[in-house]
Amino acid sequence: MRTIAHRRVPRAVFDYLDGGAEGEVTLRENCRVYDDVTFRPRHAVAFADCSLRTRVLGFDLSLPFLLAPVGYSRLMHPLGEVGAARAAGKAGTAYILSTISGHRLEDVKAASTGPVFYQLYLMGGRGAAEAAMERARLAGFSALFVTIDTAVSGIRERDYRNGMKELISGGPLKKLPFLPQILSRPGWLAGFLLDGGVPALPNVVIPGKGPMPLIDVAAALAESAVTWSDLAWIRKAWTGPIVIKGVLTGDDARRAVDEGAAAVSVSNHGGRQLDCVPSSLRALPEIVKAVNGKIEILMDGGIRRGTDIVKALCLGARAVLCGRAYAYGLAAAGEAGVNRAIEILCADLDRTLRLLGCPSVADLDRSYVNIPRNWEADESVP
Ligand SMILES: Cc1cc2nc3c(=O)[nH]c(=O)nc-3n(C[C@H](O)[C@H](O)[C@H](O)COP(=O)(O)O)c2cc1C
Repeated sequence: MRTIAHRRVPRAVFDYLDGGAEGEVTLRENCRVYDDVTFRPRHAVAFADCSLRTRVLGFDLSLPFLLAPVGYSRLMHPLGEVGAARAAGKAGTAYILSTISGHRLEDVKAASTGPVFYQLYLMGGRGAAEAAMERARLAGFSALFVTIDTAVSGIRERDYRNGMKELISGGPLKKLPFLPQILSRPGWLAGFLLDGGVPALPNVVIPGKGPMPLIDVAAALAESAVTWSDLAWIRKAWTGPIVIKGVLTGDDARRAVDEGAAAVSVSNHGGRQLDCVPSSLRALPEIVKAVNGKIEILMDGGIRRGTDIVKALCLGARAVLCGRAYAYGLAAAGEAGVNRAIEILCADLDRTLRLLGCPSVADLDRSYVNIPRNWEADESVP
């Protein structure tokens, strides 16, 4: 999927999706770390059926993975967030819509037959956020993911080199040096232009001003860090379950429990924000210990195969969020690509469970894996 996406979309779009912050240390480590965990299979067992079902935030899901919020999905393919949400619903899982969506949240909800959740940034201020939450509630979004790792936008050096800023907001002269990469992908370009070009953000409506233009996103993010003190008014504005996304330490996990969160999502934003933080899988045991069963734990980062998902579940995640794994599919082939990515992960999961000798994802636990000794030592971290 990644290879096909690379061929189909301009370098600026591919690198926006594929790249990470600064030296990309965390981005690489997010994927590599799964190699450190090995399986302890129970052989000579067989099952007629293998269950991938789980329950997240009160919803029965057919799969133990959800589709993560991926901003600007509409740049990857005109169907963007609508196509991804439809694919998630068809597969019986949930879709999480980014604040930075190119499609109206009502259209995304209407496209999905499964649960849809809304990811909140405070871009545009409280007024814009409250209006978005109200619209999301009325449209039928059932949970709110509050992302706490984006005090400012991380610096993704590939975006700089590719002229992402110039391409979105520069005049013709500034754009010129970066145009060959766009012109070399005429199929993508035709779809992009027919779709209306660079989208505004229809769900970030600034009172008295209208939808926020895409060019304003980085500056708006820098002015709108979510702090723990914001959670009080967010809880008033959103009465449904709240998930804190971007937790990497036991301290933040305990704080999320104290603030009344229904779940935490262990995440380093796919290595796109602060570089050199631990991989999500490596952070997971400390958070499992801190949360102590009080709320649900989700995690994301580096999931590319079913075995990665199984390892995360063995270490205590209720379910995982996939980001790039489906977004490569979206960039490669639109909704059909997302369907195919989900299909591949499902086949992986079924095969892995059978080879592991475990009949159901609900039965996965630490007894199915070996973890490095120094990870165990870490679990005594307060
Ligand atoms: C292109 C791209 C855009 C993203 N946009 C958002 C976003 O708007 N909000 C958010 O909370 N997370 C965002 N994320 C992070 C994902 O939700 C998720 O944490 C991450 O992709 C997981 O890592 P993975 O891509 O290795 O699966 C984005 C990730 C990517 C790759």
